[in-house]
Amino acid sequence: MQFNIITLFPNMFSAISDEGVIARAIKKSIISIKTWQLRDFSDNQYKNVDDKPYGGGAGMVMQVKPIRDCLSEIKQDSPNTKVIYLSPQGRKLNQQLVEELSVLDSITFLCGRYEGIDERVIENDIDMEVSIGDYVISGGELAAMVLIDAIGRRLSGVLGNESSLKDSFVNNLLDHPHYTRPEVVDGQRVPEVLLSGHQAKIDDWRQAQSIEKTKLKRPDLLDD
Ligand code: ADE
Repeated sequence: MQFNIITLFPNMFSAISDEGVIARAIKKSIISIKTWQLRDFSDNQYKNVDDKPYGGGAGMVMQVKPIRDCLSEIKQDSPNTKVIYLSPQGRKLNQQLVEELSVLDSITFLCGRYEGIDERVIENDIDMEVSIGDYVISGGELAAMVLIDAIGRRLSGVLGNESSLKDSFVNNLLDHPHYTRPEVVDGQRVPEVLLSGHQAKIDDWRQAQSIEKTKLKRPDLLDD
């Protein structure tokens, strides 16, 4: 899976490309991440890519031209890339959307800053707008990293085994509880069934726990 990222802050992506699950997936060539500095597509000596909003008001708006020029360069190599703009106004991210995106070959993330981007880009140049939740963060970069991590861990070979199939939200259920050694900590015991060695019973218990936890903590998931 190829990720292109259009951003004013390419160094932020070292947070996922230097260490951890995504870094390992890059080393294994399952994922590639290429950042595109939007300022390189500015047409002025100050490398500006934003301007004042028509109609007045606070903040600056990212201009059409640099974004369009950057996208056309990306599309020379990746004509079928899906262009996703990260914004609070987009389709809200959930595991279902992660699954849909994880079958693609190439995604280009457009990371906004300032008050946002010129609406004509949203009308003409992007395929999808995605939000990571109903709150505002300072730019699309953190949101793009959330998506890359969530998509990356679903790709074959990234986690080594198929453990992402057991993540919370796969099947619309929360994950079951996990325990490790020692058996007793400050009087708290590991549930007996997990020590039984009886795999079918353990699987049943885990499934029942998943359902109970979901009912208790996220009953909305069971309505979907
Ligand atoms: N940019 C600012 N807020 C965002 C959000 N909630 N999701 C995605 N991108 C954003």
